[in-house]
Amino acid sequence: MVFCNTLLKWYDLNKRELPWRKTRDPYVIWISEIILQQTRVSQGLPYFSKFIESFPSLLDLANAQEEEVLKLWQGLGYYSRARNLHYTAKCIAEKYDGIFPSNYEDILSLKGVGNYTAAAISSFAFDLSLPVVDGNVVRVLSRIFGVETPFESFSGKKKFYDLAAKLLDNKRHSEYNQAIMDFGALCCTPKIPKCESCPFVSMCIAYNTNNINKLPVKLKKIKITNRFLNYLIINHEEQFIFSKINKGIWKGMYQFPYIEVEKKINKNELFEEENWKIFFCDYKYKVIASSKVYLHKLSHQNIYATFWFINVQNLNKKNFKCVSKQELMQLPVPRLIEKFINDYKLI
Ligand code: ADE
Repeated sequence: MVFCNTLLKWYDLNKRELPWRKTRDPYVIWISEIILQQTRVSQGLPYFSKFIESFPSLLDLANAQEEEVLKLWQGLGYYSRARNLHYTAKCIAEKYDGIFPSNYEDILSLKGVGNYTAAAISSFAFDLSLPVVDGNVVRVLSRIFGVETPFESFSGKKKFYDLAAKLLDNKRHSEYNQAIMDFGALCCTPKIPKCESCPFVSMCIAYNTNNINKLPVKLKKIKITNRFLNYLIINHEEQFIFSKINKGIWKGMYQFPYIEVEKKINKNELFEEENWKIFFCDYKYKVIASSKVYLHKLSHQNIYATFWFINVQNLNKKNFKCVSKQELMQLPVPRLIEKFINDYKLI
């Protein structure tokens, strides 16, 4: 109870005015929570506003084209979130007559909605008494209560959920959930937390045992793979070869054709690569120039991308999807492609 009262007192003085906190509409709250997964509030805010402006209701989203949804998401990353949002909106339209489900189990069964998001929607939209446990909450609880088990482990999950449930305020649970997230985002931050102004400093186990930087304990880091992509910028009769990506993290977006190689190689080695030869087989082509190497970091991979400007004389456009500059601008593209297009003033 002391924890809860202290936290709510802190929240009353420090809370952020955020648009999704002014509504109980589960659709709007759902959109905000999906945007805020892996994204900071400051980065997510403009995307949230644009998204709700374009699709004010669940049915507006359900009736949209996937490309429109991806275009609005462009730059936010983790594009499966946008594809799942669209898919789920269509599901709710069909299965629940467009009415957002109002109990935890049904919310949890929606595609793209995990334990955290289901608890957040249940709590913020329907005032159900469920604790939210996200990265912020784990950091706060692990430090204040000295929990050393990694959250990613099975026993860690149980420990954190049990503790969070025990601490949940039984009257102001929705506010309590918002409060602990804000406290993690503003005071108990990952690096250089503001312990000097923290109201929990006297009870905080991490602070009092000098373990602030050791908690929360994380499981071993994921392995990051390096990828080497060579994009082919083939501009033919005012059009670019540009096609839809049909698998992987950028599924549904568009990009230039590319040749992937296994390691960093030089120009001559690249032109001798089997895939390069297969791509250009009978074409008469000339490499005009290449871009700088772009390093694009994703959660599981570092992409090293080079863009090659190539003239092809005898291109058979029937074999490729070609788009004009105007069309290209309307299509959703990964941030990496967008950066290159802007840097080289392609359109
Ligand atoms: N991060 C995730 N959900 C949030 C919310 N509702 N408010 C602030 N930050 C959040």
